[in-house]
Amino acid sequence: MNTDLTGRVALVTGAARGIGEGIAQGLAENGCIVFVGDVDVQGARACAARQGPQCAGVGLDVRDEEAAKRVVAEIVRIHGGLDILVNNAGIVCTGPFDAVSRTEWDRLIGINVTGVFNCVQAAVPAMRGRAGAAIVNIASVSAEKGGGAFGNVWYGTTKAAVVAITKGLGRDLGPEGIRVNAISPGVVETDMTRGLMTPEVRARVLSRFPLGRFASTQDIALAVVYLASDASAFVTGETLAVDGGFLRT
Ligand SMILES: NC(=O)c1ccc[n+]([C@@H]2O[C@H](COP(=O)([O-])OP(=O)(O)OC[C@H]3O[C@@H](n4cnc5c(N)ncnc54)[C@H](O)[C@@H]3O)[C@@H](O)[C@H]2O)c1
Repeated sequence: MNTDLTGRVALVTGAARGIGEGIAQGLAENGCIVFVGDVDVQGARACAARQGPQCAGVGLDVRDEEAAKRVVAEIVRIHGGLDILVNNAGIVCTGPFDAVSRTEWDRLIGINVTGVFNCVQAAVPAMRGRAGAAIVNIASVSAEKGGGAFGNVWYGTTKAAVVAITKGLGRDLGPEGIRVNAISPGVVETDMTRGLMTPEVRARVLSRFPLGRFASTQDIALAVVYLASDASAFVTGETLAVDGGFLRT
């Protein structure tokens, strides 16, 4: 399977920590030049330094469309274009549907959906004409269920939008040779989920995973490497669940 990404240039959003860091590492291990974008600029730089000299950390709040354009313009200035965009930045929303304020909803949709819009609009012009160009979106099992192990209906709604974006862009960008796919992780133990788990909650949620464990960030990164590389050259518009069987229960 050809997962060699040598010489390809990627931007991974929300990659200062957690799943995004795992993705940056997975891409870098396969030879990719990785820009780690995060609203936490110090964290982004530290993450990039951990991956090696071909990686760079950049400040990027995905809610800011001008910032997205600036980051892509800088990548184009240095490398002449962009091959891979991973829309990973996201926040969760938990609890009863009627306890969520309009302010929280605006923030949720601003990062999880408008953030994808901003990064796609900024990145696609820089991806045109690049052989093997690929976009990978990080959705969630919550998209299919309208809420998941932790995320509520509003979170699931934003991730369902990410799945729809993936399907539609797969169709729209296919003729230009840009593939667009998504991954729906099950639970991954990151800063996003750790704080939500008491030992009792952890045991209860774990019992819903047929494979008997949560995902590692590497489980997700391996799937991203597949979808970002020529190994998946004939796959587009798809959402791949990497969930230990959660959606089958
Ligand atoms: N952890 C899980 O169980 C799980 C499951 C399914 C899907 N996901 C999705 O995976 C993605 C990563 O989740 P995680 O668990 O690593 O979360 P995390 O909270 O550990 O990390 C999220 C990263 O995104 C960054 N970020 C937040 N807002 C941003 C913004 N406006 N612009 C740029 N960066 C921003 C944060 O600074 C952080 O570095 C999210 O889209 C999340 O919805 C996570």
